[in-house]
Amino acid sequence: MRILKSSKEIEITNEEFLSKIENYSECIIDLGTGQGGFVYFNALDNKDKFYIGLDSCRESMKKYGIKQYKNKIDNLMYVVMNAQNLNEVLYNKFSEIYINLPWGSLLQGIFKEELKIIEGISKISKPKCKINICFSYDEKFEKNEIEKRNLPELNESYFKEVLIPTYNKYKIEVESIEYISKDKLSFQSKWMKVLTESKSRKFYVIVCEKK
Ligand SMILES: C[S@@+](CC[C@H](N)C(=O)[O-])C[C@H]1O[C@@H](n2cnc3c(N)ncnc32)[C@H](O)[C@@H]1O
Repeated sequence: MRILKSSKEIEITNEEFLSKIENYSECIIDLGTGQGGFVYFNALDNKDKFYIGLDSCRESMKKYGIKQYKNKIDNLMYVVMNAQNLNEVLYNKFSEIYINLPWGSLLQGIFKEELKIIEGISKISKPKCKINICFSYDEKFEKNEIEKRNLPELNESYFKEVLIPTYNKYKIEVESIEYISKDKLSFQSKWMKVLTESKSRKFYVIVCEKK
């Protein structure tokens, strides 16, 4: 698989990947990590856990890829990979999965089964893995994106009749879906700063557990 070594992309074998994670009590992944600050600071605070920031765009991960290499943070890796096609070596490895402010196919994939992202999340989860998805889209600001990606209108009946049964199909139990304001968000994210510029924007947080 392709990972970052500082700002460069290199290939590592599955064996090399497995030997990097083998001595850690838990593995945690952030899908669509962007710059990767979320996993960077978590890795600094939790040295006994291994963190992966994954994104299909190498360029976006460069900032923290350079920092990780320079500061020799061994419990952190940036992986260049599409969440629609997760490498089998990641299967059944993670006890926590985060998707923070997804966009593009990643955002679409948390609703549309056919994009294989829900299936992928299920496959890389260990039993009892906690899955935390925080997203936002709004007719007022993203009308074109909503139409282009055919994003659903979010309401109780959509969650109950479509989203929850789809996740259940992949052995993912939806524990809660909360609609929250920006001051309740506390994770490290470049995109949060962009999105929270609008006072009225609301965010959804979906918390799930792999059965
Ligand atoms: C709005 S940014 C959010 C970045 C970061 N999570 C944050 O909170 O700052 C969305 C990220 O998802 C990534 N992304 C979109 N589709 C993806 C896919 N199918 N697989 C992996 N990453 C994807 C983009 O490259 C981008 O970096």
